[in-house]
Amino acid sequence: MKPFSTLVLFQILYAAVSAEVQDGQTGVVIMLPPQPTDTGLKQIPDADHPFIAPGPDDQRGRDMPCVSSRPINITILTMTIAAMNTLANHGYIPRNGIVSFEEAILGTMEGLNMDISIVGPLAANALLMRGNPFINKFSIGGMSPLVPPLPGKIDGPEVGGIAKHGRFEGDASMTRSDAFIGDNRDFQDILYDMDLLQLGKFGDNGPDGNNTVFNVATMIGVMQHNTIMYQATDPEFTFSASRVTGASGAAAFLLDVFANGTTKQSTLPIIGSFLRNQTFPTNWFRAGTPVTGAVLGPHVAAIEAALPFSPGRNNAQGVYVADPLPPAPFNSSLGCRSYWEQAANTPAVLQNTTGIFKQNVDFLLQMQFTAVQGNPACDKQLLPFGPAGV
Ligand SMILES: *[C@@H]1O[C@H](CO)[C@@H](O)[C@H](O)[C@H]1NC(C)=O
Ligand SMILES: *[C@@H]1O[C@H](CO)[C@@H](O)[C@H](O)[C@H]1NC(C)=O
Ligand SMILES: *[C@@H]1O[C@H](CO)[C@@H](O)[C@H](O)[C@H]1NC(C)=O
Ligand SMILES: *[C@@H]1O[C@H](CO)[C@@H](O)[C@H](O)[C@H]1NC(C)=O
Ligand SMILES: *[C@@H]1O[C@H](CO)[C@@H](O)[C@H](O)[C@H]1NC(C)=O
Ligand SMILES: *[C@@H]1O[C@H](CO)[C@@H](O)[C@H](O)[C@H]1NC(C)=O
Repeated sequence: MKPFSTLVLFQILYAAVSAEVQDGQTGVVIMLPPQPTDTGLKQIPDADHPFIAPGPDDQRGRDMPCVSSRPINITILTMTIAAMNTLANHGYIPRNGIVSFEEAILGTMEGLNMDISIVGPLAANALLMRGNPFINKFSIGGMSPLVPPLPGKIDGPEVGGIAKHGRFEGDASMTRSDAFIGDNRDFQDILYDMDLLQLGKFGDNGPDGNNTVFNVATMIGVMQHNTIMYQATDPEFTFSASRVTGASGAAAFLLDVFANGTTKQSTLPIIGSFLRNQTFPTNWFRAGTPVTGAVLGPHVAAIEAALPFSPGRNNAQGVYVADPLPPAPFNSSLGCRSYWEQAANTPAVLQNTTGIFKQNVDFLLQMQFTAVQGNPACDKQLLPFGPAGV
């Protein structure tokens, strides 16, 4: 018997003995999916995953966070909206945009060759902050009837989906306006055009012409320009530690995950295809080896080091003020600060769950903690202590 069918059988048996209903919902036990055996270079999409534009009820959204793996000192990476939307548009994750922990991991590993150490914590964050971890579902876009409020409505009357502002969707995105200024879900041509000005200045030469290949200097230019612009124009500009790591992670993601696996180049047409059209580029290959924290780390570190602001936010007078440091050991690194912020933005009521609900919450919290331990001093696990219903 193949390992996968053994797992399915196990899940069926387990579900049969463990059916647990809370507030009319049936709990689903979250498990680590089996690891793929084929993790090499591969053309994506394959014939089974054609592009189909989303229908009116299909959920699509914006930037998504994740936690890095052990070897690097960053915590939260914001994976761009484009990745999840593209995976959904090709059916690597469910086309309706409502996904389970296992579906998010398997689809991202297959379509983008991202390592489980990156995508596991990413999916854990999405479920804990903006999903329903009891039934093991979250929306990659907005609210959906397929993701009911948590049992007992302990986190308010609705589950927002990862596009909902506040808990982790942050300011200073490459292609979305800050929520205060305008539309933070739909692609902003004018912002992308400004990013392309940086490409024209700093980009490498490539098959499509000079200055058409995204590189670290381009991403630094984009981040510097965007943060300075938002700080000046958005009175509520917030650039906390987790948003610094998230935005820098998204920028590195563009270089390391969207690059053509055969050339390792993120060219203008490739990035245009992912960001504008949310479809895999024609004749595109995923990375030749799984993208781990060790791959993303150097790019993230270079971008973070070049940012014009340390973590902070605008005060009532529009003056940028650095955030206070969290208590030790969470003051020990940017990654550990991000971990602390993450717990501060995850509802504390999740601590008060029972049965499969608690089992799933504990599993996801452990996954986050394992990821942050790449920062050696960050050795204390946090339980969520954030407000509910926000
Ligand atoms: C991570 O941070 C520690 C100190 O906190 C440092 O010793 C180590 O070299 C850093 N690792 C990387 C990959 O930057
Ligand atoms: C592109 O850059 C190369 C090397 O700097 C230069 O020789 C070439 O003239 C440039 N091509 C165009 C079309 O500007
Ligand atoms: C986006 O899709 C349109 C319509 O299919 C196509 O004309 C355009 O070239 C695509 N753009 C990119 C950057 O792939
Ligand atoms: C990726 O690289 C291969 C090999 O150089 C090339 O044939 C293919 O056209 C490239 N794909 C894209 C989308 O640039
Ligand atoms: C973190 O806080 C502790 C306790 O206040 C302090 O001793 C330590 O120096 C701080 N560490 C950093 C990196 O600021
Ligand atoms: C957990 O439940 C107990 C008992 O109802 C309550 O006193 C406590 O405030 C709750 N804690 C949280 C974090 O909701």
